[in-house]
Amino acid sequence: MKPPLEKNPVEKTPAELAAEQAAYWNGPGGKGWLASIERIEQGIGDFGKAALTAASPRPGEKAIDVGCGLGGTTRALAEAVGATGHVLGVDISEELVASARSHRVPNTTFVVGNAATHPFEPASYDLVFSRFGVMFFGDPVAAFKNFQQALKPDGRLVFVCWRKPDENPWGLTPVRAAAPFLPPLPRPGPEDPGQFAFGDRTRVERILKEAGFTALSFEPLDQMVFMGKTVADILASAGRFGPLARAFAEATPEQIEKAKAAIAEALKPHETPEGVRLPGACWLVRARAT
Ligand SMILES: C[S@@+](CC[C@H](N)C(=O)[O-])C[C@H]1O[C@@H](n2cnc3c(N)ncnc32)[C@H](O)[C@@H]1O
Repeated sequence: MKPPLEKNPVEKTPAELAAEQAAYWNGPGGKGWLASIERIEQGIGDFGKAALTAASPRPGEKAIDVGCGLGGTTRALAEAVGATGHVLGVDISEELVASARSHRVPNTTFVVGNAATHPFEPASYDLVFSRFGVMFFGDPVAAFKNFQQALKPDGRLVFVCWRKPDENPWGLTPVRAAAPFLPPLPRPGPEDPGQFAFGDRTRVERILKEAGFTALSFEPLDQMVFMGKTVADILASAGRFGPLARAFAEATPEQIEKAKAAIAEALKPHETPEGVRLPGACWLVRARAT
């Protein structure tokens, strides 16, 4: 059975899309991220480490961590740039930034704000970095222009983002299994922000070039993604945030029960003593400011 998918009834403006993302990350998105951070770190930690290695932050450098969330990568960058360097973590979620600040790392500053429009000091950063925090802008070209202008002329951009959903069974499998039993799922348009919005390399290239970046490089990173210790653990938090959240919120208890049973059936074959793992696929993207 094909999953029922909702057509985007009216094209939304970049401002409306940005407002939706701000509401999501200050609501279920931020809460879900905070509640599941241990599991998430096990799932995406290695992708983040690869991006940090590629960014190679050096002592004395100034860096921005875009969509820094709870600030794990901000702290790693801060350690690398040392006392003579500085890292600015920017995130739109008040709750996540409050938690990031609680670690009190001296050479970091955290701001709550939209990184797309935040007034960064122009031409003063060596590195703009992000682990899965750059796919949520209503107007991505304007956002990346903002980063390009914050960078010194020889500054660098390094981020990691997901490739397309069909290359990421860890994300697609539960959604495909549950969708037939739930109210229609939102279907983002090709230019809409979201988890998989940067899957299409051609689109990302266009955005970065229009924003003024040069020397673009895309390296595929492929590895198994840890989704939870057991299928039961995954079911306990299924639909709390992410692509199934709205459908679960609108579903009847019977629909949710059927959707969870379908997710369990789809994930059971992937349960191992090391947890439930499915393939994941990312782009490690590098570019130069000029
Ligand atoms: C998938 S999470 C990644 C968080 C963090 N980088 C990590 O890897 O743990 C995406 C993050 O981007 C943030 N975000 C979304 N839109 C944003 C925007 N316009 N400006 C700043 N942060 C944003 C969210 O609040 C969230 O913390």
